[in-house]
Amino acid sequence: MTSPSEKLLLFGATGDLSQRMLLPSLYGLAADGLLPSGLAIVGTARSGHDDAAFRGFVEQALRRFVPAERLDEAALGGFLARVGYVPVDASKEGDFAALAEKVGSTERGLSIFLSTAPSLFGATIDGLAKAGLAGEGVRIGLEKPLGYDMASSREINDAVGSVFPEERIFRIDHYLGKETVQNLLALRFANGLFEPLWREGGIDHVQITVSETVGLEGRVGFYDGAGALRDMVQNHMLQLLALVAMEPPARFDAAAVRDEKVKVFRSLRPIDRATAASHSVIGQYGAGAVAGGPVPGYVDELGKSSDTETFVALKANIDNWRWKGVPFYLRTGKRLPSRQSEIFIQFKGVPHSIFDGRGAVLQPNKLIIRLQPDENVRLLLMAKEPGLDRDGIRLREVPLDISMPNAFADSRRRIAYERLLLDLVEGDQTLFVRRDEVEAQWEWVDAIRDGWAANAMKPKPYMAGTWGPSAAIALTERDRVTWHD
Ligand code: BG6
Repeated sequence: MTSPSEKLLLFGATGDLSQRMLLPSLYGLAADGLLPSGLAIVGTARSGHDDAAFRGFVEQALRRFVPAERLDEAALGGFLARVGYVPVDASKEGDFAALAEKVGSTERGLSIFLSTAPSLFGATIDGLAKAGLAGEGVRIGLEKPLGYDMASSREINDAVGSVFPEERIFRIDHYLGKETVQNLLALRFANGLFEPLWREGGIDHVQITVSETVGLEGRVGFYDGAGALRDMVQNHMLQLLALVAMEPPARFDAAAVRDEKVKVFRSLRPIDRATAASHSVIGQYGAGAVAGGPVPGYVDELGKSSDTETFVALKANIDNWRWKGVPFYLRTGKRLPSRQSEIFIQFKGVPHSIFDGRGAVLQPNKLIIRLQPDENVRLLLMAKEPGLDRDGIRLREVPLDISMPNAFADSRRRIAYERLLLDLVEGDQTLFVRRDEVEAQWEWVDAIRDGWAANAMKPKPYMAGTWGPSAAIALTERDRVTWHD
């Protein structure tokens, strides 16, 4: 492990992500005494703030986005005292010189986090290098999107890679910072119980659902150019899939974990021109109702017609020994009935039922790992209903339930960025995405998009507040599988 940075530089410091997530995360870490004690935080953006004005801005953001019970006036004062600001326009070399002057020596470690439009990454990296802010002790964190396809992602990776070596590049996928996502690793690799069954032969199929109730949320330009596949599947959902499917890494460190994940991405069977129509479904929401209130359709929100998918369902296969013949069904979408992220694993049924003819219907066991909004792990088992039935035996599916907040009642739920910013500052890459991972993810996703284009596939309409187009149901029903709602 490398040593912690002494300074943190935040590009895009006045943006939405910074206000909602980054600043509250840094405050949370500082208030708990987890940041290196002298860590100075320098914000940059185009706005012409000075230190005092920026501190006012940070204070406002924290008062707005940190829950009141967590806001301690002394901790807040201490945090604000760490914060400074330099205005930077990425196209102006002179601005980087002023930044370098403010930052001073980088010898004792500097972490830089770019939370700006990726179109600015190239100029920013260039400016940093020229101003001497890319030397040995400097690490760089990159917020998504890291491109919109393989070619643009390579361009970004090349630009960053021309200045920073891979071991100093920290690509964020905020799902990896979620406590429950890391818990997946604990569930799989800190327990011996599941491993013998965790393969073809033991598992029938896997479903991964990330559903959202929100619509465009004002991100008109970005989302319409991206769509659900690139916005959610290329990164978050493929990371979840990799954590479920990967081989046990030899160690819990950046190289071992990422080596195993990348093998999964490379084993994904392409969904391409030949299979896009049978293995994928895309949808776009129309007007409907979510959470009891009416909502407009996507094109009305957008203000123009569009073929962008706001829903995608896929049937993926992993061509390796462990997962031969085990489908992984993925689905994600906006304006679905509820916000929930879960991994649903259906095991194989018993090979022979001794209860047949005794009125009992056996259900295969299921493991449901709920990532959000509530965090729990449920194992569904068959059990006998109490009673003295003469005509047979009544069996029922009952859950063995572990609710994480209950099991760990005294620990605070942290924002994913707390974990990730701390790891950036401390130099631990385990929960960051390596270049070969991103590129393998894009390769798979690009083939799907090419398949859609070649098959002239357009999103099918679904009503806001429903689980996507009916074709998504048919996608699994063909295999006699029902989506778990
Ligand atoms: C982002 C996507 O990466 O993840 C958004 O760009 C999406 O469209 C968000 O809403 C979901 O994150 P979370 O943490 O709310 O599940």
